[in-house]
Formats: sequence, C-alpha cells, structure tokens
Amino acid sequence: MATFLSRVSILLALCITLFTNPALSDYLNPLQDFCVADLQATPSNTGYPCKSQVTSEDFFYSGLSTPLNTSNPKGVAVNRANLMTFPGLNTMGISMYIVALAAGVANPPHSHAGVTEAGVVVEGSVLIGFLTNNYTLYSKVAGPGDMFVIPPGLIHYEMNVGKTEARLLTVVTSELPSEVLVPHTLFLAKPAIPDFVLMKIFKTDGTTINMLRSKLTN
Ligand SMILES: *[C@@H]1O[C@H](CO)[C@@H](O)[C@H](O)[C@H]1NC(C)=O
Ligand SMILES: *[C@@H]1O[C@H](CO)[C@@H](O)[C@H](O)[C@H]1NC(C)=O
Repeated sequence: MATFLSRVSILLALCITLFTNPALSDYLNPLQDFCVADLQATPSNTGYPCKSQVTSEDFFYSGLSTPLNTSNPKGVAVNRANLMTFPGLNTMGISMYIVALAAGVANPPHSHAGVTEAGVVVEGSVLIGFLTNNYTLYSKVAGPGDMFVIPPGLIHYEMNVGKTEARLLTVVTSELPSEVLVPHTLFLAKPAIPDFVLMKIFKTDGTTINMLRSKLTN
C-alpha cells in the first residue's frame, strides 16, 4: 500500500512538473500533432521551440537525393535527414540516412546509445556486423533489397565487400545525430588521454600510439 501510494505521488509530482513547465508541456501536448523545430531560435534544455507558421514544405525533404561523391580520403559519403537538416523530424524519434561506401571501404564501428537502426542495401554488396554486450558477433553479407536491423546501442559496422560503390538507406530511432565512433573514441578525448595511459591500454609503444592517433583522427 505504502509503495502504491508513493508511486501515485511520484506520478502526480511528475504530471505537475510536466504540465507546469511551459517548454515541456509544449513538447508533450497530446493535442499537438507535431512540433517542427524552429532552428533559428535558441534551444532550451528540452530542445528547440516549435515553429509557429508551418507549411506542407516543413514535412518534405529532398536532401537524401543529393549526389554522393565517395572520392574522398575516407571513401564514405552520407546524406543526413535528421533534426538539423530536416526540422520537421523534431519529436518524431526517427532520422534517415543514405550512406555510400567506395569499393573496399569500411564504415568504422560505431554505436548509438539506446537507438535501434534498420536499413536496406540499395546497391552493392555490404558486410554488416554487430557485436552484443558479451562480444558475440552477428554478421552477414547483404545485397540489393536485403534489409537488416541493429539492436539498440550495439556496436556495428558496414564494409563494402563488392567491386563497385555500395549504398545503404538506413533509419534510426532518434531524430538527433548520435553516432559514437568506437576505435576512435579514446583518441578524440578533449583534453587528450595521456599517451602513457593509451600505451598501457593498447599494450604498445608511443610510436604506434602516435600513428593510430594521426590515422584515426584525420
Ligand atoms: C568527386 O570528387 C572528386 C575529388 O574531389 C572530383 O575530382 C570528382 O570530379 C568528383 N566527382 C563528381 C561526379 O562530382
Ligand atoms: C551471449 O549472449 C547471448 C544472448 O544474448 C547468448 O545466446 C550467448 O550464449 C552468449 N555467449 C556467451 C559467450 O556468453
């Protein structure tokens, strides 16, 4: 009974907080069908305010069809439809990407906290793999029309194992960019993790650490 009552009071306190906080009540108003982000405004800790004048244009985005050029040092090109490029996605909990990989190129392992990813190979032959929390690898080569799913938060990668450019259309359950690059993480720290720590972690010398730092951060 005590637990039940304390749950009810926590819930009540939560409701009062939600509906008396103007920014949050804006965001969660059940009578509101959408909240196109006003990217010109200053975001608060609950996100961007909603645009006041909305037109049909706000719910369409052509940026995914922008030509992608993989002739760059990484061999990867991406068109992004997320909150920052397509403000109509605000509060929708999804974003979409077209990823082009030059032949032989691997999109480095990365993860998105709490976010599920699904995708379809549009063109080419792509080796897709993800790692569970006990380091079991699930992986397969996918071809045109094949769909895949990456469970929430797990480390995953894609590598073009074909002889021509590969393309993937992906969707993730977040409207915000949330990619964390796995092998790069320790080298991207600001301020930098001292070399003597990295040398211990990777069981190697300073020359190798410097080589990895320059390759992974360029
Ligand atoms: C792709 O980028 C490379 C290097 O910047 C450039 O030489 C090439 O012309 C570009 N290709 C297209 C189709 O734009
Ligand atoms: C890892 O976890 C999966 C379930 O997520 C289980 O089937 C598998 O046996 C586990 N492997 C090891 C090596 O513990």
